[in-house]
Amino acid sequence: MKNPFVFSHIVTDDAFCKRDDLDILKTYMNNSINVVLFSKRRYGKSSLIKEIFKNHIDKEEYLCIYFDIFDISCSNDFAYSFYKAVAGSFKTDMQTILKTLKELFSKASFSATVTSNGEIEFKPSFTTLNFEDMMEDIFANLSSYLARHNQKAIIAIDEFQQIATIKEENLEAILRKYIQNLDNISFVYSGSKRHLLTQMFTLNKQPFYNQAIPLELKSIPKDDFYDFVSHKFQASNKTISKEAFEKIYDEVDGESYLVQNIAYHIWQEYDDVTLDLIENTIKHIISMSDSIFRTLFDSFSNTQKTALKTIARHNGQSLLSKEVLAQNNISKSSLSSALKVLYDKEIIDKREDIYYINDKLFELWLK
Ligand SMILES: Nc1ncnc2c1ncn2[C@@H]1O[C@H](COP(=O)(O)OP(=O)(O)O)[C@@H](O)[C@H]1O
Ligand SMILES: [Mg+2]
Repeated sequence: MKNPFVFSHIVTDDAFCKRDDLDILKTYMNNSINVVLFSKRRYGKSSLIKEIFKNHIDKEEYLCIYFDIFDISCSNDFAYSFYKAVAGSFKTDMQTILKTLKELFSKASFSATVTSNGEIEFKPSFTTLNFEDMMEDIFANLSSYLARHNQKAIIAIDEFQQIATIKEENLEAILRKYIQNLDNISFVYSGSKRHLLTQMFTLNKQPFYNQAIPLELKSIPKDDFYDFVSHKFQASNKTISKEAFEKIYDEVDGESYLVQNIAYHIWQEYDDVTLDLIENTIKHIISMSDSIFRTLFDSFSNTQKTALKTIARHNGQSLLSKEVLAQNNISKSSLSSALKVLYDKEIIDKREDIYYINDKLFELWLK
């Protein structure tokens, strides 16, 4: 039997644990309200958007466009991903889509290939390299296409904070110019870099100031996640007790990715799950990333290393107290400035004066 747990890619359908935030985001989408969706990494933003697009939006009414800009390094990369995503959002046969694209856009032409898993992939080539012309081409033509077809569009741009890192052109300002006057296109901006995203949407001198309602994705509630996991165990004649599940969930602060990762390994190895099996499995998962974490750890200065270890050891609490400073042999000013650098780089974050390391598995490795 195939392992029912998935942690290596975005999940939808049966691999997706229903969560209450789905209804909140779905309602915003159905009312064409712009949303900025953020959470710690690997809590399930991309999966949530894909699941809603796939199973909870009326495709007659909405064109659902999704793209991830994590790896863009210039404005033309953004335009490329954008054109490609628009092309990929049409759900008819290849020839019809190519014809539509040809009529629709004047600054890009498209070729199509069928990938190994049977999906059609469209590749744009530009007929101009002027970014603003391309945005005009996309937004104006898409908007009139939608009006003609009595449709609306929802555009989800994942890892949106990346656009703030592109300096060569004022990407944000150009985008802003096009997005603000569209009544048939709404947006979901999502990302894991909380400070960058918050700055983009809440500082009033920024182009995206007040352009979207913030929605923070928390962990999937423990009981819901337990039902999901235990069902999958039962369906394959295996069992996991609530107590055992709680140990997994608590150990990783409910991070969706790690819960699935641990469940995957436990399901694979055992039929009946006990508490020490969980501990061993977690150790095994941490050790699999050992070389990556060693390289990462090595990239920090010595005081930053001490700061990271101090967070892991003390669960991020009372770090600047006399006792903690003495135990870790570091001065208040050194620790404060190391924490600030790590915070600015979004390696760590803090909530109500408790620090945590953004990559939970890295934190467990440090312990
Ligand atoms: N609703 C969900 N139900 C079950 N597992 C989930 C869910 N959402 C996310 N996951 C798990 O977390 C992993 C990371 O999800 P992803 O959507 O890529 O997170 P993010 O975009 O926030 O980084 C997935 O591969 C999956 O293992
Ligand atoms: Mg994601």
